[in-house]
Amino acid sequence: MKRRGKALVMELNIKRLTEEEFKKFAKLIHDESGIFLKDSKITLLSNRLRKRLQALNFMEFAAYYDYLQRLSGDEKKREYEMLLDVVSTNETYFFRNERHFDALIQTSIPELAKVKTNKKLRIWSAACSTGEEPYTLAICVLECMKYLQGWQIEIIATDIALSVLEFARIGEYSGRRIEKVPPEYLNKYFIPKKSEPGVYTVKDELKKLVKFSYLNFFKNPFPSDLDIIFCRNVMIYFDKEHQQKLVGDFFKVINNPGFLFIGHSETLHSISEDFVYRKILEAPVYVPKPRR
Ligand SMILES: C[S@@+](CC[C@H](N)C(=O)[O-])C[C@H]1O[C@@H](n2cnc3c(N)ncnc32)[C@H](O)[C@@H]1O
Repeated sequence: MKRRGKALVMELNIKRLTEEEFKKFAKLIHDESGIFLKDSKITLLSNRLRKRLQALNFMEFAAYYDYLQRLSGDEKKREYEMLLDVVSTNETYFFRNERHFDALIQTSIPELAKVKTNKKLRIWSAACSTGEEPYTLAICVLECMKYLQGWQIEIIATDIALSVLEFARIGEYSGRRIEKVPPEYLNKYFIPKKSEPGVYTVKDELKKLVKFSYLNFFKNPFPSDLDIIFCRNVMIYFDKEHQQKLVGDFFKVINNPGFLFIGHSETLHSISEDFVYRKILEAPVYVPKPRR
């Protein structure tokens, strides 16, 4: 009780960012992650940063900003990771935009299975958040095993936020996160947790397919030799320049034939000439043009 009381007092003392402070933090976050924060996000950013201030016992945003400037080496790396962790938006759930997964099962995987002679399938869930997307991909792959007997299959799942990766590795989900999982898949691929009704753990056969790791799109090298990339609901947070860089870098690592899935409210129009839109079951799917 005492601790809660103390935290509350501190929270009240740390007010909102001033406009000048907001600009400084927004620039730093943009430089580090490509995430572009409009001026209207001042309250949102204040609320998110407050968590770091409390963890480090700072009473003012300016003190935290100065601290970030003073850091170097591993300490800097760690604190910047923590900063981006609290700043990122991690909303996700299983079978988000089902038609993407229908397109995957009905078209992308069968087509790749027909033409790939090396029997290797590599899928990247780029910005995987708490794991619902890559585990949904794993379910789809297992549902396609009739095409993939004897194949080597890897699902690479990456994100910039360390806490979501930790959550994903544990693989326990409930409520809204699993609302869209068809009941037959819930029975087949999840184990209900006895000690916590309503909580489901993904089975080992899904966990074995997915490898989680930290990756900042604008600071770290990409995986290569990819047949399918899912990069959904993250480009919306970047400015056009970063979107162009990201999609340009996807083109370098995607195989042809290959499939790039983006969020249903996202487009590559005026972002990239390297991919062409291919309408598969109303899903926003892009395929790479032949390399020049
Ligand atoms: C809204 S979630 C999308 C999750 C999932 N792809 C989906 O569509 O449900 C966006 C994710 O992008 C991640 N992200 C933001 N900036 C990033 C960057 N520069 N590099 C890698 N991941 C980033 C965030 O941490 C967050 O988990």
